[in-house]
Amino acid sequence: MKYLIANWKMNHTVAQGIEYLKEYQSLQPKISKTKVLIAPSYTSFFPLSQIIQKETIPVSLCAQNICEFKRGAYTGEVSAEMIQEIGCKYVLLGHSERRHLFHESNESINKKYQMALDYSLIPIICFGETLPVYQTKKTVSYITEQLLFLKGEKPPIFAYEPVWSIGSGLIPRIDEIETIVDFMKQNFPASSLLYGGSVNPETIQSIAKIEGLDGFLVGGASLQAVTFIKLLSSFENPGNDR
Ligand code: PGA
Repeated sequence: MKYLIANWKMNHTVAQGIEYLKEYQSLQPKISKTKVLIAPSYTSFFPLSQIIQKETIPVSLCAQNICEFKRGAYTGEVSAEMIQEIGCKYVLLGHSERRHLFHESNESINKKYQMALDYSLIPIICFGETLPVYQTKKTVSYITEQLLFLKGEKPPIFAYEPVWSIGSGLIPRIDEIETIVDFMKQNFPASSLLYGGSVNPETIQSIAKIEGLDGFLVGGASLQAVTFIKLLSSFENPGNDR
């Protein structure tokens, strides 16, 4: 399955999210082989899911995180059960901002992975190396450590996101991404393997041609519906720079 995922992070209020979806729908993106997911803030889930249903917009919602615990005294957290109840099927886990700004450990990400599977959510597990790791060419051992913690029965969707590439405008060389794609195929099978980090209408062209890559997780360039649709168009028709 091919995916294009808009990770809105902590952007877009409910009103802005509704505007975005209306604009997205009015631009009539042509989608034949890509599953489009939008990951808004929790507060937007209910109103956006209503618009998606009412207007039959071909996108699915994705949570940006869930709690590693089932329920109880965990102030400020949102459970897998709550996400499932509102009809959301996907969840991002282990995004680098969760790992680095909110100190999520590999153990905690594995617990979230189990929790997602218990509630039939499809986990999209993010991993990737920091800049010093990249510079010292230790990417493979670093990501192996991140991924060895994961003990799920079903292969998740994985998203390779080099930390130094997120929001920086920098991307790895194509052959470096290819090396990670090959490494993943041989060692950590995924239901789909995505790339994320400074994907925009220019950078997507070359990365989309990498064999074995099934899509993209996009932050900054997903915040405007018109730009996100450009990405979708490039992904569906590589070589077409609309
Ligand atoms: P970016 O973010 O596209 O802004 O680099 C990607 C991500 O954090 O998932």
